[in-house]
Amino acid sequence: MARVVESRALSKNLSEDERDILNRKDLDPTAVVFEAVPPVVASTGDLNGVHDDHDVVEKKSNGEREIVLGRNMHTACLDITEPEANDDLTGDKEAYMAAVLARYRQTLIERTRHHLGYPYNLDFDYGALSQLQHFSINNLGDPFIESNYGVHSRQFEVGVLDWFARLWELEKHQYWGYITNCGTEGNLHGILVGREVFPDGILYASKESHYSVFKAARMYRMECIKVETLVSGEIDCADFRVNLLNNKDRAAIINVNIGTTVKGAVDDLDLVIQTLEECGFSHDRFYIHCDGALFGLMIPFVKLAPKVTFKKPIGSVSVSGHKFVGCPMPCGVQIMRIEHIHALSRNVEYLASRDATIMGSRNGHAPIFLWYTLNRKGYRGFQKEVQKCLRNAYYLKDRLRDAGISAMLNELSSTVVFERPADEEFVRRWQLACQGNIAHVVVMPNVTVEKLNTFLDELVRVRSVSFQDGKCQPPCVASEIGTSNCACPLHN
Ligand SMILES: Cc1ncc(COP(=O)(O)O)c(C=O)c1O
Repeated sequence: MARVVESRALSKNLSEDERDILNRKDLDPTAVVFEAVPPVVASTGDLNGVHDDHDVVEKKSNGEREIVLGRNMHTACLDITEPEANDDLTGDKEAYMAAVLARYRQTLIERTRHHLGYPYNLDFDYGALSQLQHFSINNLGDPFIESNYGVHSRQFEVGVLDWFARLWELEKHQYWGYITNCGTEGNLHGILVGREVFPDGILYASKESHYSVFKAARMYRMECIKVETLVSGEIDCADFRVNLLNNKDRAAIINVNIGTTVKGAVDDLDLVIQTLEECGFSHDRFYIHCDGALFGLMIPFVKLAPKVTFKKPIGSVSVSGHKFVGCPMPCGVQIMRIEHIHALSRNVEYLASRDATIMGSRNGHAPIFLWYTLNRKGYRGFQKEVQKCLRNAYYLKDRLRDAGISAMLNELSSTVVFERPADEEFVRRWQLACQGNIAHVVVMPNVTVEKLNTFLDELVRVRSVSFQDGKCQPPCVASEIGTSNCACPLHN
């Protein structure tokens, strides 16, 4: 029966010989698939005491959410349903899916409008690139060695890498790099290269480094020392010195933050290098990876900032492409000295290329988006955007302080840290990132003064409700952002 259906489906344009081959008598269709739809897996009821999905994210009395590890939530899931036999005729399924997508689009519009907490530049227009979405563009292998897979965008990728290498002052023939899937991958790569150069090295990272740095240490089973930070969030080089002196016989691999996740603090690269030198670490006994996920593209345009440049003894720099750059899909850029990549790379015959990346397949669309936006904005365009972000960040910090709200802004940063709003609904509405008693807004190019005003007005309103009966007081955040920035009843 299946074979009859098959032969009916064969194209009329086929010759007799072609039809005979495709209708081979020795091909048993049931050997391929007998039942395509797997049965639903029955619940054993053993969910470690969890009886329904609502238990997975528990709400505390103040509305705060607590995530319980080891349980998954399925309540917000859009089920995939098997098409009905007559769907082809009625188009019901198509109509259902179109309605779901239209609703989803509306949600995205609304959520984009109320987004302030994560460092994503949501201001872009990539309409010109929609013509490419029908292609499966994949840059697997080494960007500089074309593989056998022809549907790639390596020419765009290398153009983007050249642009960043120039920004961070490394000559074309002196660098190696690739477009990663995100800033995390850049950290995983940079730290792995450091480990390959110094297999017995110790990884040093300030305790305010991104979690991906500590994940790298666990993945590579590296000894990792968490260095103390100053109240600004910068690495404390006095503590760094003590740790280096205690481990003088082991090479050092250092993660330097060019913008920490929560406070936007920029580690003093020059002081880190000076500390290494003063502790007797010659340049061939340390490897510095600069995590510029957040500010890697902003810092070159900030006058007072420590310069990130390969003229200094650093090994690699990474940046996220979907943050300040404004790429609509997660991606990143990794640039490093070419001499170190050999420690990592291996030839892969079936690719006809070389493997030196963390991932295998790589998103070939991302380099085109990056290439497009870098071409449109140029170094000068980014400089203007940085200026605007810093100005708006100062505006937000000043207005928060004027309203009596604790707030801090690091000099080189557009991340405004302030007292965590007590109203969890407000936190979710504006998608604020919170840690302990503090929250932050990351002022990106799409954040206008009008948006900040709307946010501020709402914050002042909900805050007055939270503290209206005097039962609770604004929290003290002196230990997080310093007494001079704290406006709690004690420090005000
Ligand atoms: C300092 C820092 N490093 C690395 C990352 C990871 O970047 P991604 O989210 O692109 O993986 C982040 C993310 O916010 C970050 O803030």
